[in-house]
Amino acid sequence: MVEPRRAESGFEVKPVYGPDDVRGGPEGLAERVGEPGEYPFTRGVYPTMYTQRPWTMRQYAGFGTATESNARYHQLLEAGQTGLSVAFDLPTQMGYDSDEPIAHGEVGKVGVAIDSIEDMRTLFNGIPLGEVSTSMTINSPASVLLLLYQLVAEEQGFSGRQLTGTIQNDVLKEYIARGTYIYPPVHSLRLITDIFAYCKDHLPRWNTISISGYHMAEAGANPAQEIAFTLANGVEYVRAAVRAGLAVDEFAPRLAFFFVARTSLLEEVAKFRAARRIWARLMKDEFGAQNPKSLMLRFHTQTAGVQLTAQQPEVNLIRVTVQALAAIFGGTQSLHTNSYDEAIALPTEKAARLALRTQQVLGYETDLTKTVDPFAGSYAVECMTDEVEATALELMAKIEERGGAVRAIEQGFQKSEIERTAYGTAKEIDSGERIVVGLNRYNLDTEEPYDPLRVDPAIEQQQAERLAKLRASRSTGEVTSALDELRRAAEGRDNVLHPMKRALAASATVGEVCHALRDVWGTYVPPDTF
Ligand code: 3HC
Repeated sequence: MVEPRRAESGFEVKPVYGPDDVRGGPEGLAERVGEPGEYPFTRGVYPTMYTQRPWTMRQYAGFGTATESNARYHQLLEAGQTGLSVAFDLPTQMGYDSDEPIAHGEVGKVGVAIDSIEDMRTLFNGIPLGEVSTSMTINSPASVLLLLYQLVAEEQGFSGRQLTGTIQNDVLKEYIARGTYIYPPVHSLRLITDIFAYCKDHLPRWNTISISGYHMAEAGANPAQEIAFTLANGVEYVRAAVRAGLAVDEFAPRLAFFFVARTSLLEEVAKFRAARRIWARLMKDEFGAQNPKSLMLRFHTQTAGVQLTAQQPEVNLIRVTVQALAAIFGGTQSLHTNSYDEAIALPTEKAARLALRTQQVLGYETDLTKTVDPFAGSYAVECMTDEVEATALELMAKIEERGGAVRAIEQGFQKSEIERTAYGTAKEIDSGERIVVGLNRYNLDTEEPYDPLRVDPAIEQQQAERLAKLRASRSTGEVTSALDELRRAAEGRDNVLHPMKRALAASATVGEVCHALRDVWGTYVPPDTF
């Protein structure tokens, strides 16, 4: 008798699935699973999926100065990438300027340093913003970077109505797992719903938020926890927008999501299918959404960085391929494949190119784009989809019992659940129960030498000089008056993006705008739950 194995989400995985395992019996399966492009979208959000348009190959990139990142974007576009994805350095993500003491040592390190409209112009130099879709991984200062993007696009001759792309703008997961939060939840939610309202009127094709499970997964969440905590955050955003007076079909079509893809391929496919079904039902039943686009869970996927090893780094090429397959079988709309060297350092140009080539082989050399959702009807994947769905719904109910995502965050619920799972996984790796090739089995006595990409430390000085020149050349009066207007809007109920856009156009810096809001809203202090 074969011992039953456990799924990452905790449920039992049967050694053999058959028709009797299918909930409601195999007869009703076809009807329950439905059709691609039809509610509840278990099989995918579009009727034709990749048979009409392959997923967007969208590699997350950015480091050093805007000039260096601009060069990498041109390289990636020339190599065949079909969407841009901007990584910002931590000072930018935290709303500080490169010349502030707190930024020392981080300028240009995990992403590109953007301090002003001048840096944004350089970042997109030679890239027509009306002809490319750009994702920006920016959360608390999302409104600032979105407006800088719009200002530069307008200078290029494109109106906001022509722009497509996404800002991550998902601060709730920052409180739970990633940490780049600034303001307390109530003000973060206000800023996020101001962005929804602004984009509805000025950037109607822009995806206003990328509600993310990726970072919670990287912190240790299992698949069911990843989708439960992500969708619960999504519910919180929808409720906040409805409270702010927006009709659900006015903003819901432009909500987007972001998940991880792990090497546990079958359960990952089940996870994506379950997530689509849960979200569609939630939007229909709880919020009464009528527009089919409000019910569609469209998502980006990044392969699991936490599963990469620094040991025998080339083995990561195989892991990333399996993870990418999980995302593709799961129906992702956009995909980032990690570079094999990312467990060691920022990816070299060759490693980044290989990561893109992985997607291109899967997209153009295989038959994966010839038919939609090939796992549909599989006893194993349909049963796993039901199991992940049930486990996730139980977790979402626990969050509702605590008063919703924000209240649960303030009680440390999601964080402690994730840490418990992470601890269990770490113990399994340490004991060898969970095999990681090259790490706890099939090791090499001596690792081959590797020459990582290094960020030039002179960047900090370069950015400080650019800021000094900018401040000397702009109208201080215009900046001061616009920042004062921004503070007044933050104290009141007016949409803060309008005075914010005026300040940025007058060359106010990212730090100055974020500090103006800190002056009014203060900053978030996490609960000392441990
Ligand atoms: N049938 C009909 N229409 C189709 C279609 C089909 N088969 N396939 C695509 N289309 C249409 C879509 O409807 C869309 O049209 P629209 O813009 O008018 O709605 C257009 O073609 C583009 O298709 P998608 O919207 O599906 O694909 P995109 O790539 O444009 O958007 C997304 C995908 C998930 C909705 C979007 O939010 C996105 O691109 N997200 C990316 C997020 C990202 O890159 N994040 C990086 C995070 S890295 C990070 O967090 C840091 C690190 O720590 C991990």
